[in-house]
Amino acid sequence: MIQRLSALAAALAAIALGFAFSAGPAAAQQNAALVALGAQIWKDTLPCRNCHGSFGDGVQDIAQEPQGANFRISGLDPETMEMIIRCGLPGTEMPYFDGRAYTDDRCYGMTAAAAGDSIPPTGTPPMSPRQFQAVVAFIFENFVGKGPATREECLAFWGPEASTCGRFPPASEVAAPAAP
Ligand code: HEC
Repeated sequence: MIQRLSALAAALAAIALGFAFSAGPAAAQQNAALVALGAQIWKDTLPCRNCHGSFGDGVQDIAQEPQGANFRISGLDPETMEMIIRCGLPGTEMPYFDGRAYTDDRCYGMTAAAAGDSIPPTGTPPMSPRQFQAVVAFIFENFVGKGPATREECLAFWGPEASTCGRFPPASEVAAPAAP
């Protein structure tokens, strides 16, 4: 447990260092092509929604999977989010999707040996640099700060026949998120 916590502390310190030294705009350029690629891999290729839900609200698509974070209320910036997707979250069920994570110091400065028992699960498929950017752009475009998921969003994603969309309220019944 102590090892787990100290690994997490090291991870957070590495994230904070990343902030201090990063310059310029957010890594995720939120242009339409990236968002479109992100949407496609979110739906067809990546396992994220098994745990985070198709609409990023932390309600798993597969109930038996670990419950992922709710992106709609996430306070992460795009760079930190990308790092977490690359490296996972040590000591939790959040997998890493960089195929070379923990083989060198790219993830929170830790190799597998240093991470020990706290090493996150291996995410499959491993993702390319462009896929990391795309999925982050997609998550920010569609989920972060967007308020609760709506029926319209669900129907747009799954198509007009989707019976599962009944659990979401129509947009007209959802209060608009407070302006930042
Ligand atoms: C096996 C389940 C699982 C899968 C698959 C998964 N996650 Fe996660 N994810 C989690 C869990 C659990 C957490 C929360 C960890 C904690 O803080 O305890 C998490 C946390 C996160 C966070 C941090 C969010 C925050 O606001 O703190 C991000 C970002 C994230 N996941 C993105 C992704 C993306 C993108 C994918 C797909 C490429 C993905 N996850 C796949 C389980 C999963």
